[in-house]
Amino acid sequence: MLEPGERVVMISGASRGIGRAIALRLAGEGYRLSLGVRDVARFDARGFAPDATLVHPFDALAPETAAAWVAATADRFGRIDGLVNNAGILAQLDFSSGDEAVLDTVWAVNVKAPFRLIRHALPHLAQAGNGRIINIASTDGKRYRPGVSVAYTMSKHAVMALTQAARFAGWEQGVRATALCPGAVDTDLIAGIPGVTPRQDRIAPDTIAETVAFLLRLPNSSSVAELVMNTRLETLI
Ligand SMILES: NC(=O)c1ccc[n+]([C@@H]2O[C@H](COP(=O)([O-])OP(=O)(O)OC[C@H]3O[C@@H](n4cnc5c(N)ncnc54)[C@H](OP(=O)(O)O)[C@@H]3O)[C@@H](O)[C@H]2O)c1
Repeated sequence: MLEPGERVVMISGASRGIGRAIALRLAGEGYRLSLGVRDVARFDARGFAPDATLVHPFDALAPETAAAWVAATADRFGRIDGLVNNAGILAQLDFSSGDEAVLDTVWAVNVKAPFRLIRHALPHLAQAGNGRIINIASTDGKRYRPGVSVAYTMSKHAVMALTQAARFAGWEQGVRATALCPGAVDTDLIAGIPGVTPRQDRIAPDTIAETVAFLLRLPNSSSVAELVMNTRLETLI
């Protein structure tokens, strides 16, 4: 298994929810972290060692921030070993309700931004020899469930395709990519959504964080293409 050692991991959307849980977990394990957040000034730095942490602006809707964040990470640490594409949004759109513009925003944040980050980070990940990409997809990337936003479901299916493509892009250089597909996780993203899994049955963000830590420890010879973690009983997922 791989150790944290000198490894540097980038995490998007590290301000709260799953991203923050992943960041705190990896900080505790001794990784050096580059955290992409929309509002650096409001970032709660408790739990992060200043000498092992870069907090940098990253806005999925501002394309130039992706390249700037990757470059700043390489400048600061001299290497990039992992990228966790976590930042994401859930907005309602189905065939009978919702503004079509939702499609564009959800696509921009959930799909285009991870694509862009992979593009910029890939040369660094390839250089590492055991680079890792973990895309936080969803069970909504595996099937359509009635009532869930069609836009969100489409975007998460695209993240599955993105992960497959990333696997081929970096395989020879030791880059391994995983789509992590959780069901309902107890964060703001799903708070107040009608019909969502009851709170007591949701996955804890810390469980996702521990899973990411496990995936980062796996050697090149043990690649997990997708990992589905469901809260409910469904056929196959
Ligand atoms: N919660 C679930 O049930 C669940 C299940 C499966 C998959 N997921 C996926 O897990 C990921 C994290 O979700 P979460 O539950 O932790 O959601 P969350 O609590 O709502 O947090 C979302 C994170 O994404 C960031 N973000 C939103 N828009 C952004 C933008 N334009 N640019 C950069 N960052 C942006 C937020 O930053 P700010 O603080 O600046 O808003 C925040 O850090 C998402 O990809 C989501 O689709 C969640």
